[in-house]
Amino acid sequence: MGSTCKILAIQGSFRKSGKTTTMLKYAARQAEKMGHNLTYINLFDKNIEYCKGCRKCMETAECIYKNDDMPEITKLIKEADVIILAAPVYWGNVPAVVKNLMDRMSGASMLETDYFPKPRLKGKRYILLTACNTRMPFAKLCGQSSGICRVVKEYFKTSGVKKIGTVICSNTGKYDGVPQKKYAKIDKLLMKCTNGF
Ligand SMILES: Cc1cc2nc3c(=O)[nH]c(=O)nc-3n(C[C@H](O)[C@H](O)[C@H](O)COP(=O)(O)O)c2cc1C
Repeated sequence: MGSTCKILAIQGSFRKSGKTTTMLKYAARQAEKMGHNLTYINLFDKNIEYCKGCRKCMETAECIYKNDDMPEITKLIKEADVIILAAPVYWGNVPAVVKNLMDRMSGASMLETDYFPKPRLKGKRYILLTACNTRMPFAKLCGQSSGICRVVKEYFKTSGVKKIGTVICSNTGKYDGVPQKKYAKIDKLLMKCTNGF
């Protein structure tokens, strides 16, 4: 990877001024300033059918349903070097729209074998930007922020996508905006995109 890369920013919260969208928009602006090739998508603007669980994609590596926005999103994910996923904690998990994206990406992301799945998105890396109402350390101890981190890691690790890092805003009901130190952490993670490790 050179000094700049292709970054796909995925908005997984409907709330335009919410914590995760605010962090994602900041990350996108910074990435562009750094010269990265940035594509921004809002999953709530997309027409994405639910995964029906037919498992045909396990044989063909692509979803049989092609009449929605998934072919376009799949292409963007395949082309990206770095995926920045903004997803708030909903019930200790990702929001439904993000979970559905993972489900629809199953065959494009990995090949099932008799033993361990073979990753199909190798060479890419990801950053997770998340937020939850629970305060620390309970967010971590009680499966809130730790819940979403586990699910996102499960998807990306199985797909061969390595983690660059995670930014968590906790206790979000108690303050407006995003704390300054979270922006500093985003800057730090973006530096790792440039350095390519
Ligand atoms: C449907 C729903 C489920 C939620 N579940 C949790 C939860 O399990 N744990 C938690 O700490 N916060 C939970 N929250 C609170 C959000 O994570 C919190 O408000 C967060 O800041 C939202 O992110 P956003 O500002 O980017 O939209 C939930 C919010 C909604 C709407």
